[in-house]
Amino acid sequence: MELHIVVLAAGKGSRMKSAKPKVLHELAGRPMLEHVLDTAQSLNPNCIHLVVGHESEQIKHYFAGYPADLNWVYQNEQLGTGHAVAQAIPSIPDKAQVLVLYGDVPLIAQNSLQELVELADDQTLALLTVEMEDPTGYGRIVRNIADEVVAIVEQKDANDEQLAIPEINTGFMAASSDNLKAWLPQLSSDNAQGEYYLTDLVALAVNDGKEVEACFPDSLEEVQGVNDRLQLCELECWYQSQLGEALLRDGVTLFDPNRIDIRGTLTAGQDVTIDLNCIFVGDVTVGDNVEIGPNCVITNSVIGSGTYIQANSVIEDSVIAAECTIGPYARLRPGTKLAAKAKIGNFVETKKADIGEGSKINHLSYIGDAEIGRDVNVGAGTITCNYDGVNKSKTSLKDGVFIGSNSSLVAPVTIGEDATIGAGSVVTKDVEKEQLAVARGKQVNISNWKKPNKR
Ligand code: UD1
Ligand code: CA
Repeated sequence: MELHIVVLAAGKGSRMKSAKPKVLHELAGRPMLEHVLDTAQSLNPNCIHLVVGHESEQIKHYFAGYPADLNWVYQNEQLGTGHAVAQAIPSIPDKAQVLVLYGDVPLIAQNSLQELVELADDQTLALLTVEMEDPTGYGRIVRNIADEVVAIVEQKDANDEQLAIPEINTGFMAASSDNLKAWLPQLSSDNAQGEYYLTDLVALAVNDGKEVEACFPDSLEEVQGVNDRLQLCELECWYQSQLGEALLRDGVTLFDPNRIDIRGTLTAGQDVTIDLNCIFVGDVTVGDNVEIGPNCVITNSVIGSGTYIQANSVIEDSVIAAECTIGPYARLRPGTKLAAKAKIGNFVETKKADIGEGSKINHLSYIGDAEIGRDVNVGAGTITCNYDGVNKSKTSLKDGVFIGSNSSLVAPVTIGEDATIGAGSVVTKDVEKEQLAVARGKQVNISNWKKPNKR
């Protein structure tokens, strides 16, 4: 049987108070809708039908490069969840399985969806339900004395007895396309909200002599919808603490699983220690025995084993080999490559810099568009002047070079092997192997100097 997944994302999300559509707001660094689509995709459906309305252009723009084919369905007026699903029906074949998901319920798990799909067939409508301490706002699951589900009543249409029911409708539903095609046209908007409720399918199914089966998610957070930023933030905190706890179980030392943020994937080796308030973005891989100090932000990078990253360092699109020392307060920008045992100290910025084994840039430098050999010492305050206002040029420092403090290397320039640059030099010409270059004003000492008198 073909599987077709309908994702509802046409709502306005006005409580987000945002110019951005609700489903594009991010959880763990990715739009909520992307989490939902990725989980949908993991079920290998024949097609995902995405129902959009408000700000659909922004959503379409974001997902233009999405790896799976999406069937864009437009619901121009938001007349209810039943009406939304009905818009997708013309592109769904007969005898297919249909699963309905919500773009603003980002953490739904593959297991729960799998269970729903397995439960549904042409005789059975399947629902995902859950019991809540405070069910306010949700549709209530009404069961008969035989404990069979007979209806869903929305909060605004419920009587006092129904309002006391703790079992609620999460919104997730699976049914055969044949049944949906028969039932959806029978929905009416004669209710408190004047909407076509998808939930009314339950009573229609019962009327039709079909079964309604419910299954339950593993956690409440899985089915938690997001209506405002507070709910999004609560879900983010819960999700991050889950990721933190998983890292601890995998053998990573953290001091507080609630004070690490992973906005992507962090792969860590053995005996890694991560101090408080670090943020990992995109794909980050960290080797064995790496230690990361507090407040570091590491994006799409690889960190070799035994490397020590000290507090407040920012590393992006960089590749760091083993046993390097970085920071505190270092900024490694895209294209930085450190060979083993390299050292980058405080207030050093690097960009497109290939730095050789054992080389040191320990204090207050900018090193961009540079190729640096092994065992090079770059003195405090050294700047590669890589930009003339129009073009970028390269600086090349060969093995064993020593750059005196406060030097400017005006690119393009090459300093030969084991050459030395005197402190305070402005180097504009290449320096040969083993030469000493001094390029600064000569010091003049004047004896018997009379200080000026105050006028
Ligand atoms: C819905 C359910 C309720 C359930 C709750 C779970 C109905 C009638 N009610 O209520 O039983 O407890 O979800 O969170 O289904 N949407 C559209 N087009 C529309 C209307 C909604 O795409 O015309 C989308 C929204 O963007 C949202 C989802 O459907 O992603 C749910 O809509 P919403 O209005 O939030 O439904 P609830 O009132 O929360
Ligand atoms: Ca809702």
